[in-house]
Amino acid sequence: MVIAPSLLASDFGRFAAEAARADRSGAEWLHLDIMDGHFVPNISFGPEVVRAVRGHFSRFLDVHLMCDQPEILIEPFVRAGSDGLTVHVELHERVTPLLWKIRSLGKKVGLAINPPTNISEVKPYLSKIDLLLIMTVNPGFGGQSFIEECVPKVQQAALWRQQEGLRYRIEVDGGINDITARECARAGADTFVSGTALFKQAQLGAAVRRMRRLVESESGRLPIPC
Ligand code: DX5
Ligand code: ZN
Repeated sequence: MVIAPSLLASDFGRFAAEAARADRSGAEWLHLDIMDGHFVPNISFGPEVVRAVRGHFSRFLDVHLMCDQPEILIEPFVRAGSDGLTVHVELHERVTPLLWKIRSLGKKVGLAINPPTNISEVKPYLSKIDLLLIMTVNPGFGGQSFIEECVPKVQQAALWRQQEGLRYRIEVDGGINDITARECARAGADTFVSGTALFKQAQLGAAVRRMRRLVESESGRLPIPC
C-alpha cells in the first residue's frame, strides 16, 4: 500500500519545507497535481516547482498531468525529476503516443480517468501502464467531497487486473480520508492520494501511518465484481 500526500494542499509559500515534511512523514510517494487552466479550470504549478521539491523528497515523485497538451510537458517534467507521469484517458487518440513517450524516457507510466468517463475507456491501455489513477472527484481543486459512484470503477479495475494477470497499481485521488481510503482499499485500490486530509494535519507522519494502517487492514480481501 502506498500513501501519497498531495502537494496541492500544502502551504504554497513553503514548497521545499512542505516536501521535506512529507519526506519525514514516511509517505512512499509525493503527488504533484499539474493544472493548466484548460483541461481543468485551475492553474497549479509547473516543472520548476517539481525541480525545487526534488531535492527535499527522497522517494517517488508522482506527477499527475491535468493538461490539454502533455506532449509539450512530459520532457520538462522528466528533466525536473519526476519518477512517474500520469496522463488522462480523456485525451483519446493521443493517449497511446503519450504513454509510449513516458515509457521511452524510462519513467513509470500512469493513466487517469475522470468521474464522468466510463471505465471501459481505459481497458485498451491496461497492459501498457504501471498505474491506473481513478479520480474520485472532478479534477481541478482540492478539498472536494468523494464521489461514491466511482468505487465500482475501482472494483472493475481490480477484477481486470486479476483476470488478466496484470500488475498496474490502482490509485484513487480526490476526497480521500481515513474512511474513504478504507472503502477504496476494500474495492481493490492500493495507492491513496490525499491532500486535505493529510497536509492540513499538524502531525503529518501520524496521519500517514494511520491511513496506511487502515488500508492495510483491508488488504487480502478479494475485489467484489460489479
Ligand atoms: C484534484 C487533484 C487531487 C487533489 C486531492 O484535482 O487531482 O490530487 O490534490 O485533494 P483532496 O485530497 O483535498 O481531495
Ligand atoms: Zn491528482
